[in-house]
Amino acid sequence: MRKAALSTLLITTVAAAAMMTSSQAFAYGAGDFFTRVGVAKVVPKSDNGTLAGGALSVDVQDKTDFAFTLGYRFHDKVGIELLAALPFKHDIHLNGDNIASTKHLPPTLTLQYYPLGGTHSRVQPYVGAGINYTRFSDEQLTIGDLDLDNSWGAAGQVGVDLLIDGNWALNAAAWYIDIDTDASVNGASAGTVEIDPVVVMAGLSYRF
Ligand code: NI
Repeated sequence: MRKAALSTLLITTVAAAAMMTSSQAFAYGAGDFFTRVGVAKVVPKSDNGTLAGGALSVDVQDKTDFAFTLGYRFHDKVGIELLAALPFKHDIHLNGDNIASTKHLPPTLTLQYYPLGGTHSRVQPYVGAGINYTRFSDEQLTIGDLDLDNSWGAAGQVGVDLLIDGNWALNAAAWYIDIDTDASVNGASAGTVEIDPVVVMAGLSYRF
């Protein structure tokens, strides 16, 4: 009797622990810190405007590089995420000639909504909206001095985590970022370059 009671208690405890472990393992929500790492492609919109009163048509080229994010869910369904990266280097075509380039660092902070956060769904989609600050550096132009002003703009985001276990998930995400920069050539204002890229990233999420 005593032995049976002990076994029952043991089994119940083990089962409860296993259930707690598994529900904790896949609990996805409040209190999660997360990072997402992957390969990101920055695709500027196709028409980037003109400079020098229409004399130069601007075409900012795609760039693929490593990127990562850091985030926190302070509510089951609400979190914040910062997109970070090493500076992306983009070639810039002027009237079709590859004669310019720039590096830019595009930190983007979004407030996110996770409709299935707090449930045990292994598919966790999200949407976000926020702000981008882009700092251009190392601008190059073979026919003069190019300077691109820093840009503040709005950003939107969609993404999904496909949970593998309690920590890891496959991730795919996309951002739309409004990046407009005033350009100067040889110190004289030359017009606005509209980059307005879509950033597509695929990789892994890790949460803890
Ligand atoms: Ni724009």
